[in-house]
Amino acid sequence: MRRYILAGNWKMHKDAKEAVELVKALIPLVKENKEVDVVVGPPFISIPAVVDAVQGTNIDVAAQNCYWEDSGAFTGEVAPPMLKSSGVKYVIIGHSERRQFFGETDATINKKALALYKHGLVPIICCGELLEEREADKMEQVIETQIRGCLKNLPADKMRETVVAYEPVWAIGTGKVASPAQAQEVHALIRGLLEDLYDKDLAQAVRIQYGGSVKPDNVKELMGQTDIDGALVGGAALKADDFAKIVNFQK
Ligand code: PGA
Repeated sequence: MRRYILAGNWKMHKDAKEAVELVKALIPLVKENKEVDVVVGPPFISIPAVVDAVQGTNIDVAAQNCYWEDSGAFTGEVAPPMLKSSGVKYVIIGHSERRQFFGETDATINKKALALYKHGLVPIICCGELLEEREADKMEQVIETQIRGCLKNLPADKMRETVVAYEPVWAIGTGKVASPAQAQEVHALIRGLLEDLYDKDLAQAVRIQYGGSVKPDNVKELMGQTDIDGALVGGAALKADDFAKIVNFQK
C-alpha cells in the first residue's frame, strides 16, 4: 500500500513572516491526520523559519529547487548539503516553470536527483506535457522521454523512495484540472515505464503525485484513481483552510 503524499508548492509567494503564519495556521488543521504525508514547500529564504515552526508536527518541508554541486563558485545557487542541514526532507526538481523559465532539462534534473541522493534528500521529480504536445498526440512520447531522461541511472534503492509528480503544463495555475481519467491514464503510463526501467515491485512502490489546479472540490476524485498517490498543489496550498481540506480529503 502506498501512502498518500500531499505537498504544497508555494512558488515565489510569502516572505518569512507570512510563511510562518501560513504554516502555523495549517498545523492544527492537519495534526490529527496520521494517514498521509504532509509537505510544505516555501521559498529558500523562509525554509529555516518554517522548519523551526513545524518541529514536532507531522509536516515536512520541501525546497523548490537546488543545484547539483556540493559547494563552489555558482552565484545564486543553493547546494543539497545546505538544504539537508537546514532540515529539508524533499526537494522539488524539474517543475515545468523551471523548465520553461530557467532552462531546466531532463539531464540537469537527473544530475540534481543524484546529488540529492548523496545527501539523503528525497527528490520530487516533475514531468508533464504542454497543451500543444497533447493536442498533437505527443503526450506519451513526451512523458516517456522526460521519465527516461530524468531517471537515467538512478539506483533502484533510491528510486523506490523518490516521488514522481505528473503535472500537465496546461493544468498548472489555469483552473483547468485534468479529468481523473486523463490523469490516471498518464499515471499508469509512468508506472509502466518504472516497471520497464526497474521491475514491477519497484513500480508498485513509487508514489506518483498529480499536480495542476488541485482544489478541495476535485481532490477526492483524483486521489480515488488507482495510480494517483498524492498531489502537488500550487495556488490552493497558499490558503491554510484549502490545503488542509486537500490533506484531509479522506475525512
Ligand atoms: P496549481 O500549481 O495547483 O496552482 O495549478 C501546481 C504546481 O505548479 O505544482
